[in-house]
Order: sequence, then C-alpha cells, then structure tokens
Amino acid sequence: MKVFIEKNYDQLSKRAADMIAGEISKKPNSVLCLPTGSTPIGTYRELSGMYAAGKVDFSGIVTFNLDEYIGLRQDDENSYHYFMHHHLFDHINIKQGNAYIPDGLSENMEEACKNYDVKLDLYNEKDLLLTGIGQNGHIGFNEPDDRLFARTHTVLLSENTRAANARLFENADDVPKVAITMGIADIMHFKKMIIIANGTAKAAIIKDLLTGRMVDTHNTSSLTYLHNDVTVILDEEAASLL
Ligand code: F6R
Repeated sequence: MKVFIEKNYDQLSKRAADMIAGEISKKPNSVLCLPTGSTPIGTYRELSGMYAAGKVDFSGIVTFNLDEYIGLRQDDENSYHYFMHHHLFDHINIKQGNAYIPDGLSENMEEACKNYDVKLDLYNEKDLLLTGIGQNGHIGFNEPDDRLFARTHTVLLSENTRAANARLFENADDVPKVAITMGIADIMHFKKMIIIANGTAKAAIIKDLLTGRMVDTHNTSSLTYLHNDVTVILDEEAASLL
C-alpha cells in the first residue's frame, strides 16, 4: 500500500483528482469505479475544475458507482443518482449512457443486482477505483459480516452506517435501511484502488487498515491487503492515530 498524508482536505482532494486525471489522460476510455459520500466531494470539485480548464476529457470514460440506497427516487437529494449528477456528471462531458449506478428503485431487486453484474461483465479491463471508507471499514456498502458477497447484492445497513449518514437527512429515521452495492469481487477487479479518508472520525479505522496484519471480513477494507495496487490518501486528521 502506498500512503500519502496531506496537510488538509483540499490537498487530499487535489492528489486524488490528479491521479484520476492522469489515468484518464493515459487511457481516455478508462473504466472507473466511483463513490459517493462526503469524502469525494472535493475530488469531484477538482475534476470538474480541470474539465472547465480544458485539462481533462471525460468523453471516453465509463463509470460504475459503488452503491445506491434502495427506495429513494433519483431526484431525491439524498439518492446517489442525484449526488453524482450534482457533484460531477453535470459538470463534465461524460457520455450519458456511460455512467452506471445501481438501480435502487427496481421492483425486483434480485434482477437489478444481476443486471448490474451484467453491465460490469461488459468490461474486461477495469482500470481505477476510487473509494471512501466507512467508520466500520466498509467499502461500498459491504458491511462487516462473517461472510461477504462477491457480487452485487442488497444489504441491510448497519446502525453505525445509518447513524454516520444521518447528518444528510432531515430525520435520522429517514436514512434508508437497505441499499444495493457492488460486491467485493468486482471491487477487487479494478486494477488500481485509491482509498481516501479525512477527518478524525476516520482515524481509528485508518489505523486498523494501515497497521492490521489480518484479512478480516469484519473490516472490509482489510480485504484490500489482497490487492497489489492500493493507494491510501489521508489528511492529517485521518492519519492522527498512526
Ligand atoms: C459511498 C460508499 C461508502 C462511503 C463511506 C464513507 O458510495 O460507498 O462506503 O465511501 O460510507 O462515507 P463518507 O465519505 O460520507 O464518510
């Protein structure tokens, strides 16, 4: 694992955006995996700025999002569809059909999961995955458990995750209890992984990730020990327990 500790969130965001832009300029038809949440907002702001300045062209890329809440309309401000458009897609020239996000509104979630796997299987070469990390170590919504799903599946969100995400909802009870997420096998198939984390709330899990020596399904992020190209980008607060 390569680790970068940046002075602050802006520097972290800049480094992540530079790595993504670098990947796209090397391979204009890169297949990327993208997260939502608070952590990547700065990275998306940087990437949007680079596009506005003519420094990066997104017209050839394909993106897969990690996850989506089940039951939120796509125009709901808390849906990940809305998030992606608001923070990134509306500001860059990605082609409309090239951005895949799991369907959290299907009447048949089993079919929605299979459909997402079919889309993922269309691309043999998956280039770069950007992800945040949950306070409990989740990647995507692969929550701590005795066994982890390999592929796209629905998941009951942990109380820890719902509490962490409640800040974005009017009432804590409004946070959906279920979500659809890419599974750990598809996550691991991306050739490069970038994990970003900022703030003191992430310090303990970052310490676990960077000092732990065991692969543990109760800390999904530890599965990245099995991957050979992982870059972790932190601000000083997230790195404060190292
Ligand atoms: C979001 C996702 C989650 C977040 C994680 C951290 O698509 O997959 O795993 O990356 O919950 O969220 P923030 O960035 O809000 O702390």
